[in-house]
Order: sequence, then structure tokens, then C-alpha cells
Amino acid sequence: MSKALAKSMEILSSRLRQRKENGLFRKLDLLQGLTDFCSNDYLGFSRNEALFRQIEAARAQYKPQGLGATGSRLISGNSIFAEELEHYLADAQGAETALLFNSGYAANLGLFSAIAQKGDTIITDELIHASVIDGCRTGFATRLKFKHNDLQSLEEKLKAARGICYVAVESLYSMDGDIAPLKEINGLCKKYGALLLVDEAHAFGVFGKGLVYELGLSKEVFATLLTFGKALGGHGAVLLGPELLYHYLINFARSFIYSTALPFEQLLHIRCSYIYLHQNRQLQTSLNQKTEFFKNQFVGTAFEYRLKSGPIQPVLIPGNEAVKKASRELRKMGLAVWPILSPTVAPGAERLRICLHSYNSAEEIEMLAHYLLQNPLPI
Ligand SMILES: Cc1ncc(COP(=O)(O)O)c(C=O)c1O
Repeated sequence: MSKALAKSMEILSSRLRQRKENGLFRKLDLLQGLTDFCSNDYLGFSRNEALFRQIEAARAQYKPQGLGATGSRLISGNSIFAEELEHYLADAQGAETALLFNSGYAANLGLFSAIAQKGDTIITDELIHASVIDGCRTGFATRLKFKHNDLQSLEEKLKAARGICYVAVESLYSMDGDIAPLKEINGLCKKYGALLLVDEAHAFGVFGKGLVYELGLSKEVFATLLTFGKALGGHGAVLLGPELLYHYLINFARSFIYSTALPFEQLLHIRCSYIYLHQNRQLQTSLNQKTEFFKNQFVGTAFEYRLKSGPIQPVLIPGNEAVKKASRELRKMGLAVWPILSPTVAPGAERLRICLHSYNSAEEIEMLAHYLLQNPLPI
């Protein structure tokens, strides 16, 4: 073994050991056979046979255009199908243009690293997703954080911003399950001449076509991210915005430029699942009903006031060990509920992240609620 390899192995194993000692060691897991209270497949699209059949039929209609994209969009990976899909999505979402990315992570990384220049400011909600943070870290602008969903705190940061100012929020927060006051945030951005960027990874498909669209803000928000790996049960993402942004990202978003494009099969999946979503709005209604049913289990308990309006319901159980224990107990009951540990969330804010789905049965939801009610939870 070379000296360099020995040294590297020593560092890697020491870091892993540290993780284990802190109870933070991650490993891959299989959840087969368990009731799903943790995936982002809110509407069950990843297991929807009717959608599967529609994709099969569309495949015959469009004829598979190769198995792989063969290169990045800028070289050999572009296709009429991809461009038509982008036009279709832009039109349907009331946006000027749409640009596909391989994932939401890649889209945020590309967008936030490229959009702001040295001397500019990106203000983000303190709970913004890691992909936005990584994008900001890769770029040269200053990042300021405002208190979660706190308009006063945002205004303070807007006053302190230098250069061109960009404000980044999620519409439905992935870990806290609450909704950003988008209209008010947009109002503040207008007041201070800032540009608003909204990550709709979790809201798209859960709340209609996403909250930006549903609130009539499509033309006001500078860039909107939709992802297809959550409510649409597939993979990939799209950034919606003005034409100049589209051209800018093609030229400067490194995650777009230096990566093989999505394969035809995935583009087909996106097209079919997008159409399926709008032909089957009853699935969104069913998801809302399941969320209400879950919430009704807690009426009259102190817990009632901590419940969120959407399908993501965080249950705070401070301490990594305590929350892991609760997750293990639920697993023994056949329920997959994921524990969210610090430092993914702040120490003391560890939680079970319950995700409700249109396909969760009343019995499954009752069983979960029963466990939560039987076990004293911090309020
Ligand atoms: C808010 C938010 N933005 C972006 C992403 C990344 O999207 P993707 O899974 O498509 O990479 C996620 C994924 O968890 C997310 O929760």
C-alpha cells in the first residue's frame, strides 16, 4: 500500500468512525414490505399501473429515440422531443421558457452557482434545501439567511443586501412541511427590487401545478423549479423563467453543460406523468383527504396545533437517539417513517418526517396516529 493510500484510508476511516460515534452513520436501507410514510411519491405515480400503460402506449407512438441521450444537450444529447417537452411545460405552467435538468439538485446547483456575480447577494430562507446552499457555495455572491418564513427578518436582509439581490425560498418546505407566504415575499422583493426564485420540488403536484402557478405568480417569479422525482414519481427537473434566463443557463450552468442529458425514456415519463396529473386531479383531492384524516386523529390533543396543512408532517422528537428509536419502533409495526437527524436539522429539532400519500389506507394512518398518541411527544 502506498503512503498516500494509507494516509487517505486512515482519514476516511477516522471520519466514518466519528460518524458512528455520533450516531450519524448512514447506510443504504431497503423498505420493501413496509407501509410507505416516508417517500415523496405523494400520489403513488411510481406504482400507478394506468400511468404505466399510458407510457407504454406513448412509447409506441413516439418510437424510442435511442436508449441513452449520448451526450450533453449542447453536443449530441438534444432532441426535438426534449425541446417540444420544454415548450409544452412552459406553456402549461404559464412561463416564458422551460429548461430541463437531470435532477432538482443539478438545477439548483447550476442556477445558484451561475446566476449571481461577485458583489451580488443571495438571500435564502434559513431552511432552504441543501442543493441551493451548494449552488451558492459554488458561486461568488454573498449569501444571507433570513429566519424561516419570517417576513420581518427577510426585510432586514433585503435592506442589508448589496449588488443585485436574489431571494430563494421553497414553496412547501421539505422538512418542516409548512408553506412560504409567497405573495408577501413577492411583495417585499418588488419593494426592494429583488428577484424571487422559488423551489417547488414538494408543492408541484401536491398543490395543483405548484403554488407559484396557483397563486398567479408565474410571470412575477424570476425562476421556478419543478421536480419530477416527487409527486410525479419519476426523475428530472425543469427551471421555468424568462427567455434570457434560459439562454443564460445553457451558457453558464455547469451542471447543465457538463452532464449527459436525460434519456428519451425519462423525457417520455415526464411528459406522460405531467399529462396524467392534470387528467387525474382526484388524486390530489384524495391526498388532501388523507392529510385531513391524519390531522383529525389529533383533534383535542395538544399535538393538534403543530399539524401542517400539507402531506409533510414533522413530529419533533429531540435527540438523534430518541428519534431513531421511534423510527425503529414504527418499523417493527410495519410502518416506514424516516427519522431526520441533526445536523440535517438543527440540534434539538430532530424529527420524524411523516409523508402522507393518496394511497395510505385509513387503517395505516390510524395505526401511525395511535403510536404517536400513545407515546408522549414533546409539544
Ligand atoms: C426542496 C428540494 N429541492 C430540490 C431537491 C432536489 O431534487 P431532486 O431529488 O430532483 O434532485 C429536493 C430533493 O429532496 C428538495 O427537497
